[in-house]
Amino acid sequence: MPTAPKASGLDLGALAAPHLTPALGRYFEKSWSHGDGHRLYDTDGKAHLDFANGIAVTALGHVHPAVTAAIHAQVDKLIGPTGALGFSEPVARLVGRLAATLPDPIDTIFLLNSGSESIDAAMKLARRVTGRSGLIAFQGAFHGRTYGATSITSSALNYRKGYAPFLPGIHLVPYPQAWREHDGDEDAATEASLAALDEVFEKLMPANEVTAIIIEPVLGEGGYIPAPHRFLRELRRICDANGILLVADEVQTGYGRTGRMWAFEHAGIVPDVVCIAKAIANGLPLSAIATRRELQERWGRGAHGSTYGGNPVACAAALAVLDTIESEGLVANAAARGAELSAGLARMKAEDERIGDIRGPGLMIGVEFVSNPKTKAPDGDLAVRVVAKAADLGLLVLTCGQQHQVIRWIAPLNVTPAEIVEGLELFGEALRTA
Ligand SMILES: Cc1ncc(COP(=O)(O)O)c(C=O)c1O
Repeated sequence: MPTAPKASGLDLGALAAPHLTPALGRYFEKSWSHGDGHRLYDTDGKAHLDFANGIAVTALGHVHPAVTAAIHAQVDKLIGPTGALGFSEPVARLVGRLAATLPDPIDTIFLLNSGSESIDAAMKLARRVTGRSGLIAFQGAFHGRTYGATSITSSALNYRKGYAPFLPGIHLVPYPQAWREHDGDEDAATEASLAALDEVFEKLMPANEVTAIIIEPVLGEGGYIPAPHRFLRELRRICDANGILLVADEVQTGYGRTGRMWAFEHAGIVPDVVCIAKAIANGLPLSAIATRRELQERWGRGAHGSTYGGNPVACAAALAVLDTIESEGLVANAAARGAELSAGLARMKAEDERIGDIRGPGLMIGVEFVSNPKTKAPDGDLAVRVVAKAADLGLLVLTCGQQHQVIRWIAPLNVTPAEIVEGLELFGEALRTA
């Protein structure tokens, strides 16, 4: 790694202010200079333990040597997009490597640029292939910002306000919420959501008009809420019985984040379509949908496309990401470090009744704050204060949930035991003083 830049002291917010869009939201008003491993440095030279990772993107940490070397090697050979003109080596190699991480019969990859694009692609494929138009998604889900993805997103009103009409034929069913709505009873949560789905089929849209059911196996922006495994298995059964495609949005949950390569593996199911993005290229824009070959054959040549999708540099980075995850055993590391983090947070919860719930598999852990432990009234103000305090102390974590009442931990997949301890200590200090 070259020598780290000197602290410039630049206020990048002030520099950008006159011309940068005011429409962009952000968690912090800090000016970032550079990243090195698991530390993100501001322009004053202060290091932050980065357990946010650009929202689950730089999952191997910043400027990972293998990824950076792969990028350097590729930019000297070929940068430009070639998808519509022919083949490039990084694409040709990546599709096979990515397919090998997925269970049979999923073996075919379509490369795009962003999570939202992967969702829109899944919706288009489903409609074309099944000849049906109805879509089922879940309340509180976040699938992205393109019109298709926005049409099935409801994790915050601001993502929808003023944008109607959305795509027609969509029904949003309650996501199973065991802790908040059923005293932690996963079966009761499963039954309630299945009953709501049945009601849609009986009163609003028959199952044989539905093309796809789209679900995040762990609700991300909506509050880091894992779907009960039985619920996912029931969805698989319902899809099979009715000729509906099951789409797993693994944009945030995928790539080892939950302690398995793909979150749907915890439930022992295989979806028809998997949407993949974020960690895939450790920071370069790249995404994909993965399906069995027959579905993309029926989708048809030219049915979808992308100028930049499958950019050779991003794909070279993605190959280095897969190499590193495999050679360093990072899926297992996510499970082991996640268990340590969850245990440490559970100890804090035992002594602090402002923490209502700790949940989530692997390194996808949510800490939900309540103003009243009996009513479980969400306390977004407190969570936002804790995040700000933690950042001042040098720990980056983020909120999620409808009222920002959940703090999400998105530590890098190669986080060390010592960094877990450090993160817990900084969080404890932020909790005491926020
Ligand atoms: C589950 C999920 N799906 C889709 C998206 C959209 O991805 P992108 O912002 O890359 O378009 C996100 C982004 O946070 C996400 O978390």
